[in-house]
Amino acid sequence: MKFVSIIIGSKSDYEVMKECAKTLEKFGVLYEIIISSAHRSPERTHAYVKSAEQKGAQVFICAAGMAAHLAGAVAALTIKPVIGVPMKGGAMDGMDAMLSTVQMPSGMPVATVAIGKAGAVNSAYLAMQILALEDEDLRVKLQEDRILKAKKVETDSAEIEVRL
Ligand code: RP5
Repeated sequence: MKFVSIIIGSKSDYEVMKECAKTLEKFGVLYEIIISSAHRSPERTHAYVKSAEQKGAQVFICAAGMAAHLAGAVAALTIKPVIGVPMKGGAMDGMDAMLSTVQMPSGMPVATVAIGKAGAVNSAYLAMQILALEDEDLRVKLQEDRILKAKKVETDSAEIEVRL
């Protein structure tokens, strides 16, 4: 069974990261979501990544805030693609999490998306684009979604546009 694994560092990350889950659901992509922390539950994180890989996890999405080491810690445990979502909050409102997530050492990549809700949604899209490399149905759905997005720009513009 192929699926996307979402790991969030705290229950406080769920409100934003449910947007990731909802996006996967919209496209009919299987996922599981758990709370596990790089710092507060390192052994649980390690055990979960190993078991999720065995069950069929294809991509890991990891969301954490502040000194956000979750995505990096997961990347250390797997060669499956890891996407990091920096959470807002803390003294630097997400900049700390973004830099902690993105600044991985050479050879240990984490694909880091935007801070907050846009990042949560984009993490789902990026995971699906990875899956779509070997899933023609999903590729078609993503292509159709792009067409709808482009059409929405046109209809939104038609409501307000002024051209000379
Ligand atoms: C991180 O610290 C979590 O991912 C969360 O974004 C942040 C704050 O966690 P809580 O104190 O709300 O549990 O580890």
